[in-house]
Amino acid sequence: MSQLTIRGGSCLGGETEIQGAKNSVLPILAATLLTAGQVELRGCPRLRDVDASIHILRDLGCTARWEGENVLLVDTRNLNGCAVSERLMREMRSSAIFLGAILARCGQAELSYPGGCELGPRPIDLHLSGLRDLGAEIDDAGGVLHCKAPCLQGREIVLSLPSVGATENLMLAACGADGVTTISNAAREPEIVDLQQFLTACGAKVSGAGTSTVSVEGGKPLHGCTYTVMPDRIVTATYLCAAASAGGEIFLQGAREAHLSTVTAVLREAGCSIRSEERGMACVCRDRLTAVRPVRTAPYPGFPTDAQAILMAALLRSRGATVFEENLFASRYRHVDELARMGADIRVSGRVAVVTGIKTLHGAPVRCTDLRGGAALCVAALAAEGETSVREIGHIDRGYEDIAGDLRRLGAEIVRTGD
Ligand code: EPZ
Repeated sequence: MSQLTIRGGSCLGGETEIQGAKNSVLPILAATLLTAGQVELRGCPRLRDVDASIHILRDLGCTARWEGENVLLVDTRNLNGCAVSERLMREMRSSAIFLGAILARCGQAELSYPGGCELGPRPIDLHLSGLRDLGAEIDDAGGVLHCKAPCLQGREIVLSLPSVGATENLMLAACGADGVTTISNAAREPEIVDLQQFLTACGAKVSGAGTSTVSVEGGKPLHGCTYTVMPDRIVTATYLCAAASAGGEIFLQGAREAHLSTVTAVLREAGCSIRSEERGMACVCRDRLTAVRPVRTAPYPGFPTDAQAILMAALLRSRGATVFEENLFASRYRHVDELARMGADIRVSGRVAVVTGIKTLHGAPVRCTDLRGGAALCVAALAAEGETSVREIGHIDRGYEDIAGDLRRLGAEIVRTGD
């Protein structure tokens, strides 16, 4: 069983390059089903979730192969199926993102219901109601989604909440619909802007991504393209929090502050000095951090839920107490018990967690409970006296291409064993 062994207590110093964004490349891989031609994806991170998407594409008769370290070549012209098996759906909960593209391409789709995950139930009711608005007939009895859409028809869709996945799924389905679709109360995440830019590079007419209203003029045949995936803003936040946690001075090549200004604002309030340049971001943390005003997670441009655990870990030794409020997912404090094993003082009551800073954390054997909770354990371990072993790091591998190598390049004492 793979694990990370981290010896904490010393400052960081060094630089590393930020990988491509997991939450951008996953919908883009689904979008390749809409293209008639080869897609060359540059800056594509090698992640477990990317592997799961490649398995789905191959299972549908498409080709996907790596060319060099981070270039993925995808060709979906020979697609010969419209069903995604339960086994593949269970490999990655966000596989639901394939539904809209398969429907647009094939006029039908069969996917087993994506289960919940470590964060709690992950409903897709907004995805399904939006697809029905476009004319899809969906029978979701018995755990399998049987979908038929002989002719998707563009129209106005209003999301009851700004769901990232539903916005992306409906953008892809709308590309295959006749006429114009507008998605109101759309999610505004930067990854949705990246998806729009990819679709536009393939010849689609999509506008408004990054605002609450996205518009798609469907029915246009899409061609292949060469596209570079945006840098991962949550991986960037992770390494900024690593420097905040352990202290030191780091540089993150390719990082873009525009995508995570709510995170950098909190880190500056806590006492970090962060500088953005053309080639990336520098972060210097010399003194003990101070607690910050309440951190409430919210849809973009609010504070990202994916950075909640990571920031919490960085504040464990701060002066004072910080209140967190997790408003997106029902069960996103599972990392708290593991942090407590390192001496953290965190009190949880429902959606609220209060972190009271302490002087010293100590290394301990801990295990990952989910993707970002696992990254948070690494952030905390960098500040802990002694050695921490982090087990079940398969969760981390879903979203971090090489967290051990990155942290080592940033000056951490970290070893990965057991592969
Ligand atoms: C995306 O998940 C990200 N995943 C998540 O990142 C991220 O935490 C989340 O957006 C919020 O930013 C990918 O992009 C692959 P949502 P998604 O639909 O699309 C509820 C990570 O760590 N909801 O915006 O599933 C839902 O229960 C992962 O990289 C419905 O009720 O998020 C949640 O409470 C974790 N019905 C809220 O909306 C629906 O049909 C936000 O979910 C859909 C969602």
